[in-house]
This record gives sequence, structure tokens and C-alpha cells, in this order.
Amino acid sequence: MNVLESLRLDGKKALVTGAAQGIGKAAATGFAEAGADVAIVDVNIAKAEETAKKIAAETGRDVFAVYADQTKPEDVKKMMNTILDRFGRLDIAFCNAGICTIMPGEEMTYEVWSKVIDVNLTGTFLMNQAAGQVMLKQGGGSIINTASMSGHIVNVPQPQCAYNASKAGVIQLTKSLAVEWAKKNVRVNCISPGYINTEILQQPSLKPLIEQWMPQTPIGRMGETDELKAILVFLASDTSKFATGSDIVIDGAFTCV
Ligand code: NAI
Repeated sequence: MNVLESLRLDGKKALVTGAAQGIGKAAATGFAEAGADVAIVDVNIAKAEETAKKIAAETGRDVFAVYADQTKPEDVKKMMNTILDRFGRLDIAFCNAGICTIMPGEEMTYEVWSKVIDVNLTGTFLMNQAAGQVMLKQGGGSIINTASMSGHIVNVPQPQCAYNASKAGVIQLTKSLAVEWAKKNVRVNCISPGYINTEILQQPSLKPLIEQWMPQTPIGRMGETDELKAILVFLASDTSKFATGSDIVIDGAFTCV
């Protein structure tokens, strides 16, 4: 098959978490552009609905919003039932929702630590488990998680030990499930992005930090969400069927120095 044709996702059904904005929104757009129908999963349901409407209008695909707080098993179960009622199957799950809190380790409260680990690690596990159960029964599927360069290195100067630990956990979760499900045609991969220019990094309070990060970044700029789209379509498509347990670092060489 022609290489570009092999990247198409026609007829496939996808879910993307944290898809109301940022990296998730770009991924959902990419999947729909490649031919998939997409469920936009988020706690911010108003924004998720706006995003779903926009992507549906731009691509002509079936794109709809579903509420789920991924830290809550009952929400994840309900979300999966809603998606299966609408789509009948699930081929692609991009488990991407995550949060970051800056706080020195010695002052870290139990509540902040637990929240970051709950959303980033436990929430990603719950989503992987729910998607994996459906895909194992169907006979195949592609799960992609969002880890981070922070799962590999320690960002400075901001202290964010809970975030770094949670993302290192996502990388090992990805590899563990990839090994468990490899013979059953359910693939699990992750991406580890460097600094990406999303809404969250556009807060004025972060400007002084961004000024410190750029000289640390060999490419000298942040990535754009659109620059992740093709990698995610590749991992979602059948053309990447030998890729499982992979962690694709895409960071403008940040982790090389
Ligand atoms: P963002 O903050 O713009 O979007 C995250 C989305 O997740 C939001 O729409 C939010 O409502 C949703 N969300 C938060 N908690 C949730 C929960 N419990 N259940 C369901 N949805 C929830 O973030 P961004 O920048 O798009 O990041 C997406 C992912 O990429 C995160 O996992 C983040 O850690 C990771 N990442 C981001 C980088 C960056 O520089 N922006 C770099 C490396 C990784």
C-alpha cells in the first residue's frame, strides 16, 4: 500500500481525553482529518462541545463530546458505554489528559501530590484499562498515552516532583501494558513531548519561566500542537503495527543536552 494511504484512519473510531483544548484538540483534529470518528472526552464539557462542533464542521466526521473525570472509575465506565453506544467499537484511544502543579517537594501537600498522581497516572491507567478491555474483546486496537520529557529528565528551575514522577510512571505503564497485550494485537505506545505552546503555557505568569526554558532548548522555541499530529496519526494507524511499547520523544532536542 502507498505510504500515505497506509496512514489513513477511515472507518476507525477514536477517543481522545483532555481533548477540549491543547494537544488533545490537535490530536482529535488530526484523527478526524485522517478519516476517523472521534469522541472528545474532557471534564470541561462546555469547551469539549465547542471543540467537537468545530472539528465536525471542518472534517465532516462524527465528532461528539463526552464528559468524564478520568480519576473516577464510574465516569470512565459511563464514558465507554456512551462511546460504544454511538460508535459500536473503539480502535484508537489517545489518553492525554494531565495536569501540572509547581511546588517544592518539602512543601508539597498530600492533596496536591495525590491530585497530580490521580489525574496523570491513575487516570491514564483507568482509561488504558477501559480501552484495553474493549480492544482485547474486539481483537485489536491502538492506545497512545501522553507522557512527557519530564518522565525522562528533571525540568528546571520550577519544582514539579509530582508531575515528573507521574510522567515517568506513564512511560512504565505504557511498556507494561504493551508487553501484556502484545500478542493480542492491542498496542500501547506513548509520546514524550517537550515544551508545547498550548493554552496552559500562555498564562502571563509563566512568561518569565518560558524565557528561562528557551535557552535550554537546542531548537530555541516551543513546539506547536500541530507538530504532534502526524506522529499521533502514525501511532494510531495500522502502518505502525510493529510499534508497541515505544516512547516517542519529540522535544526539539531538549533531552539531548
Ligand atoms: P491543557 O491543560 O491545555 O489541556 C488538558 C485538558 O485536560 C483540559 O482540557 C482539561 O480540562 C482536561 N483535564 C484535566 N483534568 C482532567 C480529568 N481529570 N479528566 C478529564 N480531563 C481532564 O494541557 P496540554 O498542554 O494540552 O497537555 C496535554 C497533555 O500533554 C498533558 O498530559 C500534559 O501533561 C502533557 N504535556 C504537555 C506539555 C506542554 O508543554 N504543553 C509538554 C509535555 C507533556
